[in-house]
Amino acid sequence: MTETSTAATSPATSTATSRTASSGAHGTSPQPPALRFVDVSMVFPDGTHALSETTFDVRPGEFVTVVGPSGCGKSTLLRIASGLNDATTGSVEVDRSSLGYVFQDATLLQWRTVQRNVELLAELEGVPRRERARRAGDAIDLVGLRGAERQYPKQLSGGMKMRASLARSLVLEPSVFLFDEPFGAVDEITRERLNDEVISLFQRKGFAGLFITHSITEAVFLSTRVLVMSARPGHIVGDYRVPFDYPRAPELRFEPAFAELCGEVSHALRGAHS
Ligand SMILES: Nc1ncnc2c1ncn2[C@@H]1O[C@H](COP(=O)(O)OP(=O)(O)OP(=O)(O)O)[C@@H](O)[C@H]1O
Ligand SMILES: [Mg+2]
Repeated sequence: MTETSTAATSPATSTATSRTASSGAHGTSPQPPALRFVDVSMVFPDGTHALSETTFDVRPGEFVTVVGPSGCGKSTLLRIASGLNDATTGSVEVDRSSLGYVFQDATLLQWRTVQRNVELLAELEGVPRRERARRAGDAIDLVGLRGAERQYPKQLSGGMKMRASLARSLVLEPSVFLFDEPFGAVDEITRERLNDEVISLFQRKGFAGLFITHSITEAVFLSTRVLVMSARPGHIVGDYRVPFDYPRAPELRFEPAFAELCGEVSHALRGAHS
């Protein structure tokens, strides 16, 4: 079921519609987008204009990354997509029953083991004990945490915490995955490894991805498309298709075509800051 959240200024504040209801709007693809923002803007109650009218969609099989200056409204965009915030204007279409969300910090519960943290969302959804244990086991394998199931968050490194957070969302088998700067706090080599894992998950699970980062290399390496946002109030000022096939080898980062695309994104981002 696709949920269309429309801004409070519109007559329909939250309408459930069928996924097919929006198909064909773009004319070129028979499949409707997995996630669509239409003229989404955000002014917080204190008057902060975080986001100006933003329109884009993420199609099934796409991995879209957003880069932009700090404070330009990237997290706000994800919070609106997830339903944590209501937009001031515009609408979001997404199937919220099938949404994964990885935050900047891993937000694990300190008193639960890795296994029980990974089971958490399935538990909240009422998935029976044996089934959620099985799904959590599969997710733990997928993110490479086998052997750490009985450890508590304080016993984990930053990278392991992010893996546990990823696994927790994977248990619900989301069709759309939102990532808000998940790897900002880990060292570069760990980040590269986690990037490889995200790509491998993207290929195996086939979710549509919307990823936020400050790293241009990470953006280009992971994505099928990179969007550049302006300074606050943010809006899209650049849209780059990334032409490299998956799976992507770590050495891709050193190829001239890769560097050239990073340069273009960097140039747009410098413009966005000014
Ligand atoms: N609840 C809120 N009330 C008022 N202003 C807010 C609120 N949440 C965020 N803002 C403001 O909205 C703007 C956008 O915030 P947001 O967190 O979306 O930025 P961001 O692009 O994610 O930044 P960063 O890259 O630093 O994470 C900022 O100026 C922020 O101070
Ligand atoms: Mg943010």
